[in-house]
Amino acid sequence: MRELEAVEEEKFKLSPPRSRRNPRAVRRKGERKPPTIVDEFLDESSAVHDMFFPELNMAVDPINSGNDSMYLYYPGRVWLDTDGKPTQAHGGGVLYDKKTKTYFWYGENKDGKTYKAHSKGADRVDIVGVSCYSSKDLWTWKNEGVVLRGEEKNVTHDLHKSNVLERPKVIYNDRTGKYVMWMHIDDANYTKASVGVAVSDSPTGPFTYLYSKRPHDCESRDMAIFKDDDGKAYLIYSSEDNSELHIGSLTDDYLDVTDDMRRFLIAQHREAPALFKHEGTYYMVTSGCTGWAPNTALAHAATSVMGPWETLGNPCVGGNEVFRSTTFFSQSTFVLPVPGLPGSFIFMADRWNPSDLRDSRYVWLPLTIGVPDEAADYSFMFPLWSRVSIYWHKRWRLPDGWRDS
Ligand code: GAL
Repeated sequence: MRELEAVEEEKFKLSPPRSRRNPRAVRRKGERKPPTIVDEFLDESSAVHDMFFPELNMAVDPINSGNDSMYLYYPGRVWLDTDGKPTQAHGGGVLYDKKTKTYFWYGENKDGKTYKAHSKGADRVDIVGVSCYSSKDLWTWKNEGVVLRGEEKNVTHDLHKSNVLERPKVIYNDRTGKYVMWMHIDDANYTKASVGVAVSDSPTGPFTYLYSKRPHDCESRDMAIFKDDDGKAYLIYSSEDNSELHIGSLTDDYLDVTDDMRRFLIAQHREAPALFKHEGTYYMVTSGCTGWAPNTALAHAATSVMGPWETLGNPCVGGNEVFRSTTFFSQSTFVLPVPGLPGSFIFMADRWNPSDLRDSRYVWLPLTIGVPDEAADYSFMFPLWSRVSIYWHKRWRLPDGWRDS
């Protein structure tokens, strides 16, 4: 993992902005502001867009890859499953199932047409459902199918295809022996702002959808679930118009929230939370709130999961300034501990493609927790937080033998 902390730079040249305005309009209204790199990234007709969404022939392919490219992660490339089909697991998370010694990757299946429900609405895809992929090595993924399906006919159902199902996460309940899925449930205008719960006896489903609610009677949009070492689990969600985050414990069966809730990062407008733990300290990566457009990530830390939470700063290292200020053109979704390598994690993020959401890409990168930077952070009053760093790599792989360590 230490080798993966080498800083990798990225250079790119931008073509001069294309002006579609005629000279008379320019004289009248002045020069139009040139598009930012994020505008270009989002514009499917731009060369910048193509650079960040390389074509299918560049895909990571676990079947046809020779030994040289085995286990290599290429952030942003299409990632094929063992059937040779692009993986559909956006806004996802990974569960390690001890019983089968297998990783399960759950995420939004967005394999449908991108459209707007109305002219001011967000780009969307109808609900297909939650996909599940299984793997022993975190690189070769077998499609286990859609384990929670969207509803075709019943328009009053939460999962009716015209609604929104985002950021599904699954945890295992050791007491009940059930796999419990939590997800963001919404209508096309994001006014329902609720969480949904589904349950299954098997990690590969089918999951039975139970219900949706507003936790603690509060709006809930981007969300995550975190299971602590002591078996207690928590729901973390963006609330109050996404202006703050809430955290609350789940009931013992993981099927509901308890009344115990704390508000944090108030007025900070953070979303896409991804929580993890190392040596008794809790960490979280969040994004800002700019829809499908990338923005700057922040890392936060707390000595108790219910807070108080403190903000550490932008964890992104390498690439270049634009890469670091856009989370490498992606948005956090999950942080997965690498077994056998304490302090090492895989940062999982989505590179959304709002012009064709099904073609959104995955950005997986090494995340490490380093020793505190004494010179910069030393204080008598506050804990000395370790630095959370996410390292950019064009391509990388986990250290050999991590599975046996
Ligand atoms: C983002 C959010 C995504 C999705 C999107 C819709 O802010 O993180 O999960 O809801 O907005 O525009």
